[in-house]
Order: sequence, then structure tokens, then C-alpha cells
Amino acid sequence: MSLKPSSIVQHLDRFVIGQDDAKVTVAVAVYLHFRKIAHARRDDLPITKSNVLLIGPTGTGKTLLCETLARLLSVPFVTAEATALAQSRYVNEEIEAILQRLVDKAEGDIARAQNGIVFIDEIDKLKATDREPRSVSGESVQHALLKIMEGSPVKLRDATYIDTTNILFICGGAFIGLDEIMSQSNSYGYISTSEGDNKKIMERLNARIKPTDLFTFGLIPEFTGRLPVVARFQELDRDMLVRIMTEPSDCLYTQFREIFSGEGVELTIEPRVFEQISELAMEYKTGARSLRGIFEELITPILYAVPDNPDIRKVRIASLFNDPVVVRGERGA
Ligand SMILES: Nc1ncnc2c1ncn2[C@@H]1O[C@H](COP(=O)(O)OP(=O)(O)OP(=O)(O)O)[C@@H](O)[C@H]1O
Ligand SMILES: [Mg+2]
Repeated sequence: MSLKPSSIVQHLDRFVIGQDDAKVTVAVAVYLHFRKIAHARRDDLPITKSNVLLIGPTGTGKTLLCETLARLLSVPFVTAEATALAQSRYVNEEIEAILQRLVDKAEGDIARAQNGIVFIDEIDKLKATDREPRSVSGESVQHALLKIMEGSPVKLRDATYIDTTNILFICGGAFIGLDEIMSQSNSYGYISTSEGDNKKIMERLNARIKPTDLFTFGLIPEFTGRLPVVARFQELDRDMLVRIMTEPSDCLYTQFREIFSGEGVELTIEPRVFEQISELAMEYKTGARSLRGIFEELITPILYAVPDNPDIRKVRIASLFNDPVVVRGERGA
């Protein structure tokens, strides 16, 4: 398999807006993963595995990026929620079930499953301090996970074993409060501010999430140690939100234009409307998550009216706060 990091990024770009640094980090990790698989087949120098941790605010594309990646890659890929693990009283059985799903995805081919990718979402919910009665504590889930991330044989339901050594683990979480922890932890000073490059390197180092920050947050050191690669997702700005609604091939605008065109109606929404929706969404602070809700609120009354009015041919929306302009006429005219 000769998937270049840049081709992975190009594919991600079609569905995930922005988050360029995270895309590059993930693409390189996946690329290394495949190189490693190729090397293992040829039996020469092994490359050590670099599991990945995705950190960023809610609704900024972490899960979307992994799902998009899964569709691109030809290796078996499964996702799991850390919260479900923490709520279960039998963590090891749950973990087995995840690996079993990976084997199922590989159509029973254990060797393929052993090179697969497992995405564990909501990993920040495993904070060592969050303890719920009658459930396994986050910390013991971390211990259970770190065993398989490290690589160990796990017995499956039909008594076969799967070796997790070469499985790539991607963990994701919002890590609310990590920024404050980072701003309190020591940062590097500039050695020489006159040199632009030097300043850039220092800024990069300071923007890095240190294992100690994750430790303060509530991940145990052994666990953070197994996640050497950290990719940060940024808050989405207004322009990115506009692009999310209008650019990807499966974006909201395209989806609804198709629904309307199925009724023989041409839907046009002016760029200004998408800006207004984005501004509202930014106030809700749930990233791109609130876009659909606001958009549907706008479109619902029109969708309600269209089937009752077969003479409507065009609907044009110019502002979130004005009624849409409706053009009527003969169908197909
Ligand atoms: N960068 C992005 N590009 C395109 N769409 C996005 C992006 N970020 C979010 N979205 C949209 O918002 C939805 C929610 O995003 P996603 O599930 O990836 O959030 P998340 O970062 O995993 O958040 P959480 O931490 O709450 O799990 C996606 O299904 C997608 O429609
Ligand atoms: Mg998510």
C-alpha cells in the first residue's frame, strides 16, 4: 500500500474543513503505521508504534476525521466510546468485544485485524478523579486499555487470540479545562527573540501539550506515555463554519438543495445567510454541531409549504430574518 501522507490529507480535505495541523499529524501516523506493516512483512527493522491522541473542543471534527479516514483506508477500523467502557462492570469483556468487532470487520481474518485501527472516543471521560458508584473507575479503564495499547494477546469468544501489538490506537477527547492547565504549567522562554525561526520553534514547543499537562488533567502517566503523538483541533471560526455548510459534497446546503429539487423546486440560499447561521452557532459554543439545528429551523416552514403548493418553482433565501422569496409558475416551464 503506497498511501502518501499528502494523499491522506487531500482525501480528508474533501470532508473535514480546516484542522490542517491535525490532518498532517494523523496522516503521518497512519503512513508510519502502513510502513510498519510493510516492514514487518519483510522482517527487517521494526518501527515502533505511535498511537495518536486527538484533543480539541466539542464539534470540531475529531470523530468526523476518524470516520473519514476509516472510509479511505483498506484496513479494518472500529470505533468505541470510553464512556461505555467506564460504565461497564466488565471492562475486559468490553475490550474483547471491541477487538472482536475488528476481527468481524476483517471478515474473520485475524492477521488483517492485527494491523487494524481502533478509535477510542471520549477518552477524557476516564479522568482518574471521576468515580461513579457501581461502575469501574476511569483509572482502571485506563489500565485495561494501556495493556492492549502496549500490545498483548487477547482471547476472543471463539478461543482464538488476537495480538494487539500492531494495532494502531487513536484516542480522542475534548479535554475541557486542559488550556488552563497548560497556561499554568511552565513554558519555555525565548532564547533569542531577534531570530524569527527561534521564536517560531519556541511557540511550537509551548503550544505542545505536555504529558504532565495530561497527567494533571487526570490521565495516568503510563497511559499518556502510550500516546506519544498529540494532534490538536482548533475552535472553528465563522468562515470555517460557512464552508462546512456549503463545501463538502455531502454538506447541508447540497443535501437540502437535493431534497427541494426532488419536489421540482430550485433552492437558493445567499452567502449572507450562512454567515448569519455561523454567527449564531458560534454563540452556542458547540462547534459545528448546532449548524444543522439552526439550518433546519430556517428551512422547516418552507419544506412544510412546498408539497402543498405544486406551483412553487424557486425559493430564494437572502437573510435569516426575512421571509424567503418564492417564484411560482408552471412545472417544467
Ligand atoms: N472540521 C469540520 N469539517 C466539517 N464538518 C465538521 C467539522 N467539525 C465538525 N463538523 C460537523 O459537526 C459534526 C460533529 O463533529 P464531530 O462529531 O467530529 O465532533 P467532535 O470533535 O468529535 O466533538 P466531541 O468532542 O463532542 O465528540 C460532524 O458530524 C460534522 O457534520
Ligand atoms: Mg467526537
